[in-house]
Amino acid sequence: MKGFIVFEGCEGVGKSTQLRFLQEYLEKTGQAAVFTREPGGTPLAEEIRQLILTKPMSAETEAALFAAARCDHIDNLILPSLKEGKLVVCDRYIDSSLAYQAYARGLGEDFILKMNDYAVKTCMPEAVVFLDLNPLESWRRKKGKVIENDRIEGEADAFHLAVYDGYKKLAAKCDRYLCVESNIDKSVTAQNVLNALRERGIVK
Ligand code: TYD
Repeated sequence: MKGFIVFEGCEGVGKSTQLRFLQEYLEKTGQAAVFTREPGGTPLAEEIRQLILTKPMSAETEAALFAAARCDHIDNLILPSLKEGKLVVCDRYIDSSLAYQAYARGLGEDFILKMNDYAVKTCMPEAVVFLDLNPLESWRRKKGKVIENDRIEGEADAFHLAVYDGYKKLAAKCDRYLCVESNIDKSVTAQNVLNALRERGIVK
């Protein structure tokens, strides 16, 4: 979908900071945009978020709940905002389900794509900004500080490395990926994100 931008990456890569930089830039240059996040973005999806991040469940149930939250988000926020001509910038989307549930949980891409059929058919992002940083390096930069203590973030290093590996595999084969190294200097990363989006004509 034209104007639909997603940010992806492992835990603690600095997505929130980069989203803030982009928001400031879009405001300054008068480009209307809605910033949102997954899981969440609508009242129902925020309730599903609480369930996913706090209750123990199977990998299949987890994938189904992410997809359910996504359906509600698409119908009630993403598509209506795009139809109004706004940019939509989302913190995580289906590529998180591919990296975390398909690859790291081992459910496989086919399973996740089938479960996300509605998202895939009606609403794929024009660009996925992948902030590239090995999760062990981001832990090191943060000196082990946990940002939001949830069930998935609390998984072992091997899980987060499998997520990273999943993203790298997706980035290598999907045109929607714009890979930007997460530099220690956040303003350098922000400039590189902006350059990548401008080069594709997605933002002015
Ligand atoms: P969040 O606190 O938003 O993580 P972050 O700040 O790193 O973006 O928590 C969302 C968690 O859910 C995060 O660990 C990634 C995970 N997730 C999936 O496993 N699959 C998905 O489809 C989505 C959207 C998120």
